[in-house]
Amino acid sequence: MVKTGPDLQPLPDAQGVAQAAADRIAARVQDNPELTVLVATGLTPMATYAELARRVRAGELDMGGVTAVQLDEYWQPGEGALHGDDPRSLWGWMQRSFVEPLGVRRTIRFGDSSDPLEVCARYDAAVQAAGGIDLAVLGLGPNGHLGFNEPPSPAHSGTRRIDLSTESLASNAVYWHQAVPPQALTTGMATILSARAALLLVTGAHKRAVLDRVLNGPQTPEVPASLLRTVGTVILADEAALGSGAPVGEP
Ligand code: F6R
Repeated sequence: MVKTGPDLQPLPDAQGVAQAAADRIAARVQDNPELTVLVATGLTPMATYAELARRVRAGELDMGGVTAVQLDEYWQPGEGALHGDDPRSLWGWMQRSFVEPLGVRRTIRFGDSSDPLEVCARYDAAVQAAGGIDLAVLGLGPNGHLGFNEPPSPAHSGTRRIDLSTESLASNAVYWHQAVPPQALTTGMATILSARAALLLVTGAHKRAVLDRVLNGPQTPEVPASLLRTVGTVILADEAALGSGAPVGEP
């Protein structure tokens, strides 16, 4: 893989990020209709997925050949991965926001299991059999996490069960207006960093401080998203997240 710095594309607002992200995803799918895409949930990419769905409905885009790969899922200790029909399931959210509206037929998911090692090994084998990740579509956690790779998550960290940080528990409870399980399964940093391309979507003033650390701070497992700077990643960020529209890195 060619090692380059991140390519930052500043956009005026969240809708601009969604349009630019949809353009980039659509272009990749047009180049390779059998693209394998790692799919974040969370609030940030929802406008992007809605724009892709609009294009699919309008007959401008066909995503039927894409393989959509789950990024993460909550884990209830003593029970296992949340079932897709649990209203808080990230697989359920990914189905409703990406798989169904985009007409995606092939998926790789964690699946139901009470054995974290087994479910992660099955997931990794399926990703490998699919030829790895062509495109990772990612959001930025309030503490710099990617997926649920909580700080510290080194570049070699694998697919695993992890304890959620206090910050992630708080930010995720907002999605459901109720508490989420204290643990999760996450695609490891190793898989994310080996993706052939990655898009990191960042919107809103609440992401400003963490985005500054991602772009300008040291590359460190303490800010897992900072590790994206070693691979060909495009960061699409709005002015609110970048702060006053000033060029990043300038005093
Ligand atoms: C979701 C995920 C998380 C989110 C991140 C940002 O599948 O993996 O890493 O992308 O927490 O969430 P939002 O977009 O809600 O700010």
